[in-house]
Amino acid sequence: MDIEKIKKQFESDMAQAGLKDLEPIRVNYLGKKSEIIKGLRSLGSLSVEERKSRGAKLNSLRNYIEEALMAKKVELAGAKEQEKYDLTIPGKKFEIGHIHPVTRIYNELFEIAKSMGFSVQEGPEVESDWYSFEALNIPKNHPARDFADTFYISEEVNLRPHTSNVQIRYMESHKPPIRIVAYGRTYRRDSDMTHTPMFHQMEGLLVDDRVTFADLKGALTVLIQKMFGEDRKVRFRPHHFPFTEPSVEMDVSCGLCGGKGCRSCKHSGWLEVLGAGSVHPNVLKNAGIDPKKYQGFAFGMGIERIAMLKYGIDDMRLFYDNDLRFLEQF
Ligand code: PHE
Repeated sequence: MDIEKIKKQFESDMAQAGLKDLEPIRVNYLGKKSEIIKGLRSLGSLSVEERKSRGAKLNSLRNYIEEALMAKKVELAGAKEQEKYDLTIPGKKFEIGHIHPVTRIYNELFEIAKSMGFSVQEGPEVESDWYSFEALNIPKNHPARDFADTFYISEEVNLRPHTSNVQIRYMESHKPPIRIVAYGRTYRRDSDMTHTPMFHQMEGLLVDDRVTFADLKGALTVLIQKMFGEDRKVRFRPHHFPFTEPSVEMDVSCGLCGGKGCRSCKHSGWLEVLGAGSVHPNVLKNAGIDPKKYQGFAFGMGIERIAMLKYGIDDMRLFYDNDLRFLEQF
């Protein structure tokens, strides 16, 4: 038996072999009746010297063939897999969710408020006439209700038109000093470019002894400049709310034109950001706090409005269309 010849023949068989040919080749070269196996079996009839050298050659040929068959199998099977799958196609993009712009604004405001010592509170959205209006110094059938016309479940139960209900609920169950922000969904009978029937507010309330209007101005200036940037100017304009006296509206200088006046600020240089004022004595009284001993300030802002100002969005309804082309920009 010529070992070199067998090896050459094996290599030429392998050169043309496909996946299906590998098993017949194995049987041919390493099967029971193959020359190599027969040769290994008959080693016993040889002299010790011959047995050693021939045995080593046959074993190394057998190992060589086994390894070559194995390697070829891996190579051909791999190629077959590649025919099944086009490995050059780019992977499918895995979409992950976005934080809604309203939630982003809330998170920023909460961080700022907490850093100023305010705790974050919630209250009911379905509310009684007392907490939505009367306790806030807005009597039944009074024209002062007009700014907050909402949806009514019955005469006594409504969807709260603002988060100011939380002022009363919190004061009822806590003693001053009070320092909270309240947040959540609010409702009004409005729907246009700058109003949606459901929207979000954040309300602030601070009650303590010796609270002055200067505290309100200082705290809100810090809050708004942290939100919009320290380079922005602020101003307070006299206003009216039934639950604060005196009341103000607060403006921030327009970020687009730097206060010179442009379309976005209606050429005034200012953008309205919130309403505020000193807590009305009637409101403190209605919530069980002595107005002779304590004073406070409160403020309220629309979150969508803040988001519109911050991101330059001109239509509030976009927040609730659930159009991914809009939402993915944040
Ligand atoms: N509740 C007022 C509104 O919805 C905002 C506000 C809150 C004003 C607290 C003053 C004090 O418009």
